[in-house]
Amino acid sequence: MRPFLIAGIASIVLSTGVLAEDDPDFALLPDGTAQEDVFYMCSACHSVKLVAQQRLSRKRWDETLDWMVEEGGMAELDAEEREPILDYLETHFGEETPR
Ligand code: HEC
Repeated sequence: MRPFLIAGIASIVLSTGVLAEDDPDFALLPDGTAQEDVFYMCSACHSVKLVAQQRLSRKRWDETLDWMVEEGGMAELDAEEREPILDYLETHFGEETPR
């Protein structure tokens, strides 16, 4: 199977009956590949409002992730997890993103 097909099936499975949809904060995160990852990972400690209200460059998001690991005790991300999350944050909450 092609990766996008697997991803498509996974997102159908994930989007049926998960808790994320019931949380009003989930709506603050636009659709995207890492939407659910960001929601679950970041809302473990604080509202994703803190995330959605930021407008940062990729570099600053990268530093923010390091900071969450160092100061907040977030689990370290390997490159495979980190890239899609950075892509997502840069695309939806980048410096150019309108508020
Ligand atoms: C282990 C706990 C933890 C996790 C997980 C976590 N954070 Fe945080 N985060 C914190 C703490 C602690 C603060 C400081 C909160 C405060 O200012 O009240 C914070 C603050 C922030 C801020 C605000 C920074 C500012 O300048 O005010 C942003 C942006 C942020 N986190 C992004 C994220 C993102 C994105 C994720 C998910 C990838 C994430 N955090 C996951 C602990 C965490």
